Amino acid sequence: VSGSSVPVIVAIDGPAGAGKSTVSRSLAQRLGLGHLDTGAMYRAVTAAVLRAGIDPDDERAVADLCTNLRIVLESGTVLVDGVDVTEEIRGPLVTAAVSAVAANSAVRADLVARQRSWAVERGGGVLEGRDIGSVVFPDAVLKVYLTASARTRAQRRVAEAGGDVEAIERSIMERDQRDAGRVDSPLRATSDAVVVDSTQRSVDSIVDDLEALVTTALGARATTDGGLSR
Ligand code: C5P
Repeated sequence: VSGSSVPVIVAIDGPAGAGKSTVSRSLAQRLGLGHLDTGAMYRAVTAAVLRAGIDPDDERAVADLCTNLRIVLESGTVLVDGVDVTEEIRGPLVTAAVSAVAANSAVRADLVARQRSWAVERGGGVLEGRDIGSVVFPDAVLKVYLTASARTRAQRRVAEAGGDVEAIERSIMERDQRDAGRVDSPLRATSDAVVVDSTQRSVDSIVDDLEALVTTALGARATTDGGLSR
């Protein structure tokens, strides 16, 4: 989809369990772009914090640890300083502590810089998270805010990993409140985002729509760019 020197960035934001990963991966594949799960980066830092026995609320210690951390996301695996934390970052301990780590401004500044370099080096990509359209890439060619009812999101989690629907729904809602209520880069839909409710929709139909929106947006951008350069 590229062809211009301006990176093609698609931003997929939204609350926990809305289907961001499934949709982003599929869209990236169709567009021939890379996919970056930025939530996995916050989770990787959190796993390292817990492994080091640091209190997730200790801003200074968490920030210091993050600065020197080598985080590698590659073909479905997550490595932190060479340690495979792929499974660990999806576990209950990391999930319970990640919002505290993600509220740390020094951590955010560090990870946002890494996310920008990742995308620029590749000439673009599909990035999923909470602040991609609002902070990381406010000029993304397409911004999507993917959501679904809390019950549906909890049911999907249970289908994937088991557990009690009501307890999971409560914990999802608590995490959303912390992510939306924080001072730095809160979860929100920007006014220029396309809001997609995945509650009653299949992944394929959503990806079809998003692919068409990217194509249209790139066409519009090519016209504007051409007009400016002439
Ligand atoms: O997407 P996922 O649920 O794995 O994200 C885990 C946590 O990481 C979120 O609850 C949020 O606290 C944080 N996060 C963030 N900004 C992003 C991506 C994730 O603050 N861009």
